[in-house]
Amino acid sequence: MTTIGQAIQTSSSIAAAIDAIVAEIEEKTTPITEVRGPREELTEAYAHLVTAAGESRGWPLLYPMLGSGAGRGALVELADGSVKWDLVAGIGVHFFGHSHPQILRAQLRGALEDTTKHGNLQSGTVPYEFARKLVELAGRRSKLSRAFLTTSGAMANELALKVCMQKRSPATRVIAFEHCFMGRSLTMTSIGDSAAARDGIPVTVAVDYMPFWNAHAAEQLGGKAAFIEASLRQLETYVKRYPDGHACFVMELIQGEGGFNIPDRDWLVALMEACKEHGIPVWDDEIQAFGRTTEMFAFEYFGVGELVDVFTVGKMTQACAVLWTDAMKPRPGLLSGTFTGGTSDFTVGLEILQTLEAGRFYGPEGAFAQHQQAFRRHAEALMARHPSWFPAVPGTPERIGGVGGMMRLTPFGGQKDKVIAAAKAIYDEGAITFWCGHGPYHLRMLPPLPAMELDQWPAIFEVLERGLSRVAA
Ligand SMILES: Cc1ncc(COP(=O)(O)O)c(C=O)c1O
Repeated sequence: MTTIGQAIQTSSSIAAAIDAIVAEIEEKTTPITEVRGPREELTEAYAHLVTAAGESRGWPLLYPMLGSGAGRGALVELADGSVKWDLVAGIGVHFFGHSHPQILRAQLRGALEDTTKHGNLQSGTVPYEFARKLVELAGRRSKLSRAFLTTSGAMANELALKVCMQKRSPATRVIAFEHCFMGRSLTMTSIGDSAAARDGIPVTVAVDYMPFWNAHAAEQLGGKAAFIEASLRQLETYVKRYPDGHACFVMELIQGEGGFNIPDRDWLVALMEACKEHGIPVWDDEIQAFGRTTEMFAFEYFGVGELVDVFTVGKMTQACAVLWTDAMKPRPGLLSGTFTGGTSDFTVGLEILQTLEAGRFYGPEGAFAQHQQAFRRHAEALMARHPSWFPAVPGTPERIGGVGGMMRLTPFGGQKDKVIAAAKAIYDEGAITFWCGHGPYHLRMLPPLPAMELDQWPAIFEVLERGLSRVAA
């Protein structure tokens, strides 16, 4: 005996209708094969749409970009008919690119349910299937054992902070890294290391900042051991200054907005172990890094899963979540909220987790490592062709960086105005990138790797080169 809900989900006529929709979209998007400019007859109407979009919120869009609702792989069509390489994918959200058949199918399955949203009071089964999968995958190499679902990265972080604060009550201070980013809520902008993000608003949490790993600074101090020693000394100073005062140490294992900074494992382990000694929970924020390194979890990439107490994830998972170990279990009543998310967030999120698990994406020979190598090869060739575009950057010797699906390039000495101008010129030439770092600034790419082929990199670099040449000139 099945329920009517199951009968809908397994209906062969609905499955045939979904197949027909996906086939129709695949056929319609077949002509999207390369970058192209806008269609002349649409440019005026498009300009109005872009202006109206900016006016609706009171300031202009950063890029004049409004999607048409179609794309193919890493190529996206805009509402003026132009086509661009989407190398930033919604700041890491659309990791499977545009109009991906599997994602479309999962999305359509999500549309079959009786309501669009699931909540903490009333829910269907799919949010918990998603949560169970997340815990199963995370638990392979960590002690994370439970997940609570929510609607944004910032909200997942709010919940993580509450879990830590309740566990460590009455401790209220937070230890965080310089240049960290945590989201846009009042509390998260208090912790995030960006003055502009809290312009005119109060700081609501006391934060003690630690420097992030910096290979160049380590060299100047006399080596890795000296840098680790200095970091541990600073941590010790905070712990002595505020005994039992810290609710957690929040760590982006790879900094996203802060500049795609990748730490040394020994340094990371030393800090995490020092936290353990002092009973300070380690909270790993992988909202940007999850899924993109050469392992599914950044804590797996660094082999530090056993040292993580609390974990947050979002962006490419579509639905966001906070996970914790048994020892961090919050008391009932601490976490709730109306929505856990929309049905298709969970059907698509689950599809993404299952596909990442089953595919040949991870490991030193996996697809993501190969894409990173292809990116680096082309970036090196570009630098060799135009050494003057890539002058030395004080304190940041490498001008090509990243791991897996996190890629960065540092032209023009990492000067803010020039890097932003370069991103905008590249946009005009047909590729969407973004920037990161607080000086030096870098061009940032979070490309939709599972939807890309290695042989697409030459065409992408042609666009990057054209954009950079406009700024260099
Ligand atoms: C590391 C990190 N944490 C938290 C967030 C906030 O996520 P959201 O924008 O979904 O609130 C982001 C977003 O860029 C992030 O990169």
